[in-house]
Amino acid sequence: MRLKHTLITGGNGTLGREVIPRILQHDPDATVTLLLRAGRTAGVPHRLEELKRYVAHWWPGLDLTRVQAAQGDVTLRGLGLESRESEKLRSQVTTIIHAAASTRLIDTLERANRTNLSGTANALRFASLCPKFQRFAHISTAFVSGDRTGRICESELNCGQGFVNAYERSKFEAERLVRAHSRNLPISIFRPSIIVGDSWDGHIGSFTNIYLPLKRIARGDVRHISGPGTTRLDLVPVDFVAEALIRLVQSERSLGRTYHLAAGPSRATPVRQLVEQAVELAGAHPERPIHFVDGPTPERHLSCFFAYLAQQREFDDRNLWADLGVFAALRPSPQHLLPSVFDFCRSTHWGEKLPWEEKTCVAATV
Ligand SMILES: NC(=O)c1ccc[n+]([C@@H]2O[C@H](COP(=O)([O-])OP(=O)(O)OC[C@H]3O[C@@H](n4cnc5c(N)ncnc54)[C@H](OP(=O)(O)O)[C@@H]3O)[C@@H](O)[C@H]2O)c1
Repeated sequence: MRLKHTLITGGNGTLGREVIPRILQHDPDATVTLLLRAGRTAGVPHRLEELKRYVAHWWPGLDLTRVQAAQGDVTLRGLGLESRESEKLRSQVTTIIHAAASTRLIDTLERANRTNLSGTANALRFASLCPKFQRFAHISTAFVSGDRTGRICESELNCGQGFVNAYERSKFEAERLVRAHSRNLPISIFRPSIIVGDSWDGHIGSFTNIYLPLKRIARGDVRHISGPGTTRLDLVPVDFVAEALIRLVQSERSLGRTYHLAAGPSRATPVRQLVEQAVELAGAHPERPIHFVDGPTPERHLSCFFAYLAQQREFDDRNLWADLGVFAALRPSPQHLLPSVFDFCRSTHWGEKLPWEEKTCVAATV
C-alpha cells in the first residue's frame, strides 16, 4: 500500500518527528501534512521550521518541501481545521497517523480524556470523511493493560484491569473506540511500550516521560526507589518504533491488527540495571547508594513513575514477529541500547544543549 498523502497528528512529538523522515524515505512520492497547534509563543510556521531543522539535522538530504503543516487541534470538532483547509485535506488524505495525545502521567481524567479520547473520536470522524482513505494508524500504548501482570497479548484489551493513572484509562477508552470503528474504517493499532532515544546515537526530541526520573537519578538527587529492582521495564528505541510503524502501515497484513511496538520479553531491562547505568553512563556518581524499598519513598514527586515499577509484566509481540519478519529481530538488547541513550543525555546536558537548536527543547523538570 502506498502512503500517498498522510495526515499526522502529534507530528512534532517524540515519536511523530521520527515518523516524518521515514515516510519521505520509504516513498519518494509521499506527501505529509502535520496537524499542529499554535504554541503560546510560536505560531504554526515557526513550529514547522523548528521541526524541519530537527529532521534535516538527523536526516540530511531529504526533500522537506513534501512536508506542510495545517493549524488545528484534535480536541476541536473537525480537528479545528479552517474550512477550506479541511476540504482540501479531506480530498487528499489516504492515511492518518494519529499520535497526538496528552502524555502527562499526572493529568486529571477529564483533561486526559479531552485529548486522548475526544481527540481520537475527532480523528476517526475526519477519516470517515476522506474519500480516498486507506488506513487509520492509531498510536495507543502497551499500558492500556493498566495494572495487569504477567504476559499481555496484542489481541487483548478489556480484561477487567484497573489503571495506574488517567493517562492509561483514557488511552484504553480511545483504543476501545478505535476497535469499535474497525467495521467501517481500515484500522491498525500500535502500542509502543516506553520510548527512549535512537538505538544508534541516542537522539530524541524531548526529554520528558522516563527521562524525568532518569535525570534525577543520574544527578544523584534520588536516594530511594519504590519497588523491587528486579522488575523488568520494556524500553524501546524511537527509531525502531517509527520504522516498524511505517513498514506495517504500508502492509496489507496489518489491516485490523494490533501490535506491541516493544522491546519484547527477552529484551526488557531490570530496573536496577537501568538505574546503575543512568548513574554510570550519564556521568554522575552519587556518593550514597540508591535503595529499593517497599512502599512510598520521600521522593513523592516521582511516585507517578515508581507506580510502574511494581508490576512484573511482559508484552507479547507475536503479531510483530509474524508481520515484520526479520526486522523484528533487529531490536537492540539493553546492553547495546543504554550506552547510546545515556551518551546523548550527557552530551546534551539532558536537553539543555541540542545539536539542531541554539535554544533548549522540552527539558526535564520535575
Ligand atoms: N513516549 C512514550 O514513551 C510513549 C509510549 C507509549 C505510547 N505512546 C503514545 O505515542 C503517541 C506519541 O507520543 P509522544 O511520546 O510522541 O508524545 P509527546 O512527545 O508528548 O507529543 C504529543 C504530541 O501530541 C500533540 N498534541 C497534544 N494535544 C494536542 C491537541 N489537542 N491537538 C493537536 N495536537 C496535540 C503535541 O503537540 P504540542 O507540541 O502542540 O503539545 C505533540 O505533538 C501518543 O499517542 C502516546 O500515547 C508514547
